[in-house]
Amino acid sequence: MNRTIRIAPSILSADFACLRAAIEMAEEAGADVIHVDVMDGRFVPNMTIGPPVVAALRKVTRLPLDVHLMIETPERYVEAFVQAGADILTVHPEATAHLHQILRQIRRLGVQAGVSLNPATSESVLSYVLGMVDLVLVMTVNPGFGGQDFLPEMLPKIAAVRRLLDAAGSAAWLSVDGGINAETVPLVVAHGANHLVAGSAIFAAAEGVTAAIHTLRESASTVYI
Ligand code: DX5
Ligand code: ZN
Repeated sequence: MNRTIRIAPSILSADFACLRAAIEMAEEAGADVIHVDVMDGRFVPNMTIGPPVVAALRKVTRLPLDVHLMIETPERYVEAFVQAGADILTVHPEATAHLHQILRQIRRLGVQAGVSLNPATSESVLSYVLGMVDLVLVMTVNPGFGGQDFLPEMLPKIAAVRRLLDAAGSAAWLSVDGGINAETVPLVVAHGANHLVAGSAIFAAAEGVTAAIHTLRESASTVYI
């Protein structure tokens, strides 16, 4: 099992007029990757950013860009996001009829491939693609918006994905996204998560971005794994 914990600030909760400053602050505070939420107004009831913004972010950070595609038929945009500079491309099986094919497409383009599961989606969709994924993202809220409450009923799913990855000898990251904060971090880490996406707990934190990232790391380190 990979015992390293990665902190992935989600810029969805940052000031969109000052993304560069937000990313620089996160990078200085020791963030491991930058999580970029792409929404199309169809798969989820919100719209955010596309390849041109990812390309602009690519120029202002050395951190890997962890691009979470919450869009219908994501295969249409894989190439554009790879060209824009994504390092990890995560897709939802609920949004494509061809999960196996799109994972192959992503990896062939030299980028890490992730699969993200909505709250009602079973981890069983991973069965035949486990060897093709670099990251599994368990959504701990319904995707679409930052600032929602963590769904505790997702904890058994996190544990189930951890068992699947370990049984397959997979070093894929186990990511969680939604309602991740100092209170929920110990729970998700104890259940096997090691890639922690947090938006509002970092960019809307009263203590500021730097302290918030330290707080999350600290609370992850309280768990014996
Ligand atoms: C939600 C997005 C998340 C979002 C999380 O659909 O995928 O990445 O930014 O926001 P918080 O951490 O505020 O729940
Ligand atoms: Zn996300």
